[in-house]
Amino acid sequence: MDETTRAFRAAQRAPQNLVIYTGVGLLLCALPQVPGMQALLGLTSGTLVWWVGACLTATAIATVLYRTVGETATVYRVVAVTEACLLQVGAATVITSSDRPASPLWLITIAFASLQAGITEARLLLGALVVVPPIGAAVAFALRGDAAGALVCLLVDSLALMVFVATSRAHLRREEAMAQLVRWKLEEDRRRIARDLHDGTAADLAAVVWKAEALLQRLPSDPARRVELEQLATRASEGIDDLRSIVWSLRQEDRTWAALVAWVRQRCTEASTERLRVTVEAADEDSAWPVPGSACIDVLRFVQEAVRNVLRHAHATTVKVRLEWPAAIEVSVEDDGCGLPEGAELRSTGGLRNFQRRAQACGGSSRVERLLRGTRVSFSVPTHEHG
Ligand SMILES: Nc1ncnc2c1ncn2[C@@H]1O[C@H](COP(=O)(O)OP(=O)(O)O)[C@@H](O)[C@H]1O
Ligand SMILES: [Mg+2]
Repeated sequence: MDETTRAFRAAQRAPQNLVIYTGVGLLLCALPQVPGMQALLGLTSGTLVWWVGACLTATAIATVLYRTVGETATVYRVVAVTEACLLQVGAATVITSSDRPASPLWLITIAFASLQAGITEARLLLGALVVVPPIGAAVAFALRGDAAGALVCLLVDSLALMVFVATSRAHLRREEAMAQLVRWKLEEDRRRIARDLHDGTAADLAAVVWKAEALLQRLPSDPARRVELEQLATRASEGIDDLRSIVWSLRQEDRTWAALVAWVRQRCTEASTERLRVTVEAADEDSAWPVPGSACIDVLRFVQEAVRNVLRHAHATTVKVRLEWPAAIEVSVEDDGCGLPEGAELRSTGGLRNFQRRAQACGGSSRVERLLRGTRVSFSVPTHEHG
């Protein structure tokens, strides 16, 4: 059920509305007591009381059920449909029995058409409840030989249908406009966050790297401090690296597979050193498959951390990064290094552990394998979970 219908229904089923409905019902029942009205309506208060009473009872039960068992319960739905039938079929029946085809009571049908058009769910059923009862009344008048009466009923019918269709369209258009507005707002926020990260946080981190490098040049003699400073500069550079990927993913909601592969390749080329060659192989790498932004971030963070681990710990000479997309996105990073120490996955509080957490969060999986020579880590992201 969509938000508009839910909000509309919640407003419709507010307990205080019962008081208003009862007041309107009582006024309707009292109407024939006004001089001249009984002749106009062709009905006595006695007839109206039965119909109004039945409708109000159904509304009261529907309100109680809505508040207790909820709008999705079958019992609520049955009572809500009964309520609508009692109102619409009841109105047509009462008008037919009154022998006044141009009855003011048709206003109830028009009001029903206008109000129910706000509910996007079960539109067909509601539309039928708007259209069919006046046709029934038209047939009844025609069978009695009252062609003019039948014509009036058909006129009311077309009017009710017009109101229903026009109001439904207006609701749909408003909903679309709202959805578009939300999309624009989100897009604007993403761009702003990307800009702030790029111009603010990334620039700050770059300043830290420069500062650390400058200090390193001025600190030739103190090995312990040098190591600390080098670590600081490396951490800050890695932070910049991460930020660049996040900014890249934020700038567009979704990317194509080709764009993702190209970005992974660029990052890996930058990570390559004289000692370590990073190669990237990808299936269908020119494909324009759309990849949700969140999946892009998961893939990038995984590749970045896996390649960084090889650089830091593996003493490898080559790293192969593979990207495939059979059903989910499958990524693997394989090195020919010294291999993972026993129990490294269990001891990990950082990268390796985060692979699992990240995979769990997106409904995917991650794996660490010890090869004859080296290590392979793989990560799978189901794209349908994203977005
Ligand atoms: N590709 C690899 N080759 C060899 N050892 C690795 C590799 N990746 C990870 N390791 C080992 O696993 C440990 C845990 O890795 P990780 O969770 O990423 O934490 P960190 O990189 O901060 O040490 C590392 O300290 C290292 O000993
Ligand atoms: Mg690590």
